[in-house]
Amino acid sequence: MSADMNPMFQFTDLTTQHAQMLNLLQDERLALLDGELSRARALLAQLHELQETHIEDEESGLIPYLPEWARWHARVYLAEHRKLSAMLGELRLALEPLPARVPDGTTRLALLDIHAPFRHVLEHHFEREEKGLFVEVQR
Ligand SMILES: [Fe+2]
Ligand SMILES: [Fe+2]
Repeated sequence: MSADMNPMFQFTDLTTQHAQMLNLLQDERLALLDGELSRARALLAQLHELQETHIEDEESGLIPYLPEWARWHARVYLAEHRKLSAMLGELRLALEPLPARVPDGTTRLALLDIHAPFRHVLEHHFEREEKGLFVEVQR
């Protein structure tokens, strides 16, 4: 752990960011449910920005300090980060060509469905970090 880091502040902050990212995803899915594509795109852009900063902070400030006995190896977290970035990029690409409003229910449902794998990986990743990484680097 680097001397210039305040670990307690950092972990609280990162856990808060997990909640913020889940809220952004929830709001984005609600926008899709309403067919509000321009709002959904803006929310995904916000989520993308927060996710990238969050990942950079974890990869520079926490993952290098993971102890050898850690429940999950650093490569597990790193692989999930790459996967989450790629999946979010694909979702943004999928929304890009659509008009600002999508009235068709079938399309809206299909758009919600393609979010399921990302949401699943995101929730499991946060759970893993809060049980593993965040706790283990403090010991
Ligand atoms: Fe992470
Ligand atoms: Fe995280």
